[in-house]
Amino acid sequence: MSWKEKINSDRVPAHVAVIMDGNGRWAQQQGKMRVDGHRSGVLAVRETVEAAAAIGVKYLTLYAFSTENWNRPKEEVDALMELLVHTISAELKTLADNNIKLETIGDWNSLPENCRRQLTSAIEETSSNSRMTLVLALSYSARWEIVEATKNIAAKVKSGEINVEDIDATMFSSNLTTAKYPDPELLIRTSGEQRISNYLLWQLAYAEFYFTETLWPDFGKEEFYEAIVNYQGRERRFGKTSAQIMTETLNNLVSEHFSSGNSK
Ligand code: FPP
Repeated sequence: MSWKEKINSDRVPAHVAVIMDGNGRWAQQQGKMRVDGHRSGVLAVRETVEAAAAIGVKYLTLYAFSTENWNRPKEEVDALMELLVHTISAELKTLADNNIKLETIGDWNSLPENCRRQLTSAIEETSSNSRMTLVLALSYSARWEIVEATKNIAAKVKSGEINVEDIDATMFSSNLTTAKYPDPELLIRTSGEQRISNYLLWQLAYAEFYFTETLWPDFGKEEFYEAIVNYQGRERRFGKTSAQIMTETLNNLVSEHFSSGNSK
């Protein structure tokens, strides 16, 4: 039985976040340049997007370039930006054919002009697609995002638009770049590293983490499905006890049973 066949289609996470890590080590192992690792990483991006859409994931957020990645050697940064522009233009038709919407989170001001232009047109062209939203985290870091949200909220308090008492977790979330998306239920990180690396710090509060030794260019559909099955085997308690979760599940099953007319 394949991993895909083991997936419970009623419990597919709505939002999966991914830290694509290990392109450099993959390249080194193959005796290639780091940029070749990133190029091969693009194939894994395609596999993952297809796999997620196929099982009904609604949001897939990929950490494509962090704020800290600007500190890499200039040649690598330039190559990554070029790869990004090229990939978006090459994959635009596939996104359209598969009804996938492209969006981004991150600091656009620091992206090169050609990259912003390419992104603007791809975002526009795919804006009415509805099967899945592919969110690229670009020049993104969670601390940057949290500071921006805090500045926004502070400005609204200062202008009298809101009161300090109006600030709560829901309103804070609505000031983040991810305001439109549900929080990810699952985070996948490849390459054996077990860190969150300044990624979606607020949004991952209750996410399940799946770490794999696989280097990003070797990641593919079957391992994505394996991560989903692994996630489905977890008990998500949100601070409650196991017994409470069990009772809630039973109650839900009973009410579903009666409301679907199965009670005869
Ligand atoms: C991490 O590997 C990967 C990145 C910093 C970039 C990821 C980019 C891509 C997969 C290509 C472009 C993506 C899209 C969405 C078009 P690393 O370089 O940190 O690997 P290492 O830790 O082994 O050095």
